[in-house]
Amino acid sequence: AQKSLKEAYAAYFPVGVAVAPRNLAGADAELIRAQFSSLTPENAMKMGPIHPAPDRYFWQDADQIVGFAEQNGLKVRGHTLCWHNQTPSWFFTDGEGKQVTREVLLDRLKEHIQTVVGRYKGKLYAWDVVNEAVPDGGTDIYRRSKFLEIIGEDYIEKAFEFAHAADPNARLFYNDYNTESDSKRERIFQLLKKLKDKKIPVHGVGLQGHWSIYEPTAAALEESIRKFAGLGLEVQITELDVSVYPKEHARRERQPSDSDVLTKEMEARQAEKYQMLFDIFRKYKGTLTGVTFWNVSDKTTWLDNFPVRGRKDYPLLFDQNSSPKEAFYKVVTF
Ligand code: G3I
Repeated sequence: AQKSLKEAYAAYFPVGVAVAPRNLAGADAELIRAQFSSLTPENAMKMGPIHPAPDRYFWQDADQIVGFAEQNGLKVRGHTLCWHNQTPSWFFTDGEGKQVTREVLLDRLKEHIQTVVGRYKGKLYAWDVVNEAVPDGGTDIYRRSKFLEIIGEDYIEKAFEFAHAADPNARLFYNDYNTESDSKRERIFQLLKKLKDKKIPVHGVGLQGHWSIYEPTAAALEESIRKFAGLGLEVQITELDVSVYPKEHARRERQPSDSDVLTKEMEARQAEKYQMLFDIFRKYKGTLTGVTFWNVSDKTTWLDNFPVRGRKDYPLLFDQNSSPKEAFYKVVTF
């Protein structure tokens, strides 16, 4: 019989998927139960959605996802406690719209992390504590953000300490994308090394894995895994997808070559890329402790609206009818 993803990788790592509440019924729910062993809420636990106003939390979506995981014996990775995106503006301002002080923002960050991590204590095995804090280009280690501006560089350390205090058993991750670029890899390494040297409770690094049929190269990916693992960190692939389009972060406009159709050639190249990636993931057994796909199937993916709004993409292992693609067979056959 055909092995599922979770069966094929049972001896290696949990295979996860990012979900919204709408994925927890019908064909998507069936696919999740059959194939995956872990869930990540795609948006439901981010600051904006879960903490829309100073005195108000919105738990419904996150609770529903955690409840589904409990009923179906799935692990859950939390995402994410501190990010410059999807953070409501109230977080940084007082009642009169004036920017708050370092002390106030630290208090708010602490209250937020304590409350969210505390609610799911023991139910989530890992958290993306700080997300995307390193800029893509230039030489800076710290991305310019309200957190950096108001608190200073130690907002990152504080976030990890607050999370660790709220759930000492959760594995705590720093999560980022473009981790295979030489320059960004080096700057993320500097950040993580500093945290480790200061004995900050950081346990792992999440390589988001928003890749394409053109990248990364095997060498660049292995270099990242080895380099971060050298700090004594576990490594997880936290947001895996393989776009069929060239990946240029700055490009927002449709190109003449954007076909909107998954050609045979694209599907074959995508299958090869997925095979290469999972060959590497298996090679780092023990170091690589999780792989999570960013969405369930090609029916809906965030890439349908990024970087080009309305351009259909096909980045996952299951097609728009939830059927396994060529890439799926490459991933489960080894
Ligand atoms: O829920 C609202 C809805 O009420 C509203 O009417 C609608 C109008 O735009 O927006 C809906 O919210 C959208 C939300 O997704 C839920 O669908 C937001 O506009 C949209 O910006 C948001 O996009 C999410 C994005 O993060 C935000 O930056 C994507 O779904 C999500 O896949 C994406 O995930 C990120 C990871 O968290 C971090 N790494 C990169 C990854 C991809 O960008």
